[in-house]
Amino acid sequence: MRQTFSCLFLGFGLAAGATAALAEALPLPEWQRELAAKPQGDAARGSTLYAGRGCAGCHGPDGLADNRQWPVLTGQRPLYLYKMLLDYQADRMAGPDAAIMASVVRALSRQEMADLAEWLGALPRPAAAEAPEPAILRGDRKRLIPPCSACHGAHGQGWDLQPALRGQNRDYLAKTLQRFKTGERNNDVNAGMSQFAAKLTDEEIRALADHYGR
Ligand code: HEC
Ligand code: HEC
Repeated sequence: MRQTFSCLFLGFGLAAGATAALAEALPLPEWQRELAAKPQGDAARGSTLYAGRGCAGCHGPDGLADNRQWPVLTGQRPLYLYKMLLDYQADRMAGPDAAIMASVVRALSRQEMADLAEWLGALPRPAAAEAPEPAILRGDRKRLIPPCSACHGAHGQGWDLQPALRGQNRDYLAKTLQRFKTGERNNDVNAGMSQFAAKLTDEEIRALADHYGR
């Protein structure tokens, strides 16, 4: 825990002195209010928006980015997709890749975000490579690391705000776990990931990414 807090602390210290200050993760009650106010998404409108707003240029016409450092969007949980779009817009994500997204979503309304999330979430998820299960998948009591399935589902399928991991690009998974580990990514509600990510070794991160990823 101490490591996580010191990373967060460092982040705020840097933000205070930097020109582009990063917003903090919203606390759970505020997220609950934010998500309760989410408009109902319309998948048909989402499909039109996806093409019209240039999403396909980076994420591919079918939501499967060629660049494996970037995320697969199809078959992802709509609520999580919606939350991420809000997070990028509010500058709650650090790093150069997040800056790309922040500029893309600047002008999106909440209705448009909900429409995009609805359409992408309903598309089929690509298959995982099915690399063998690493031991860390079941967590480690000694280091207080919970099993991934506790939040991401028995098959990494995710639910609500917990994203699907299965079928995600493995390089993106590894990159993202590293960012949680260093504290560069800290937009997770209630520190769901940050509370333990600093304790994962680089080998464990690689094995987890290979297991869930494609
Ligand atoms: C110029 C390239 C580019 C464009 C255009 C773009 N994206 Fe992205 N997108 C990215 C990158 C890079 C990331 C990974 C960011 C990171 O690692 O923080 C990303 C991440 C995301 C995520 C987070 C997924 C996850 O699993 O956390 C969502 C959702 C998303 N994009 C949706 C969209 C939508 C919808 C559009 C169109 C409105 C769009 N993107 C347009 C490059 C792009
Ligand atoms: C206590 C609940 C919890 C546990 C346990 C947990 N996660 Fe997460 N995870 C989350 C939440 C919540 C998010 C969404 C964070 C956000 O909103 O930014 C997330 C996000 C992620 C992401 C980012 C996905 C994306 O598309 O950007 C990855 C990768 C991830 N988790 C991997 C794992 C792995 C691997 C394990 C097991 C070692 C694990 N998680 C265990 C709650 C958890």
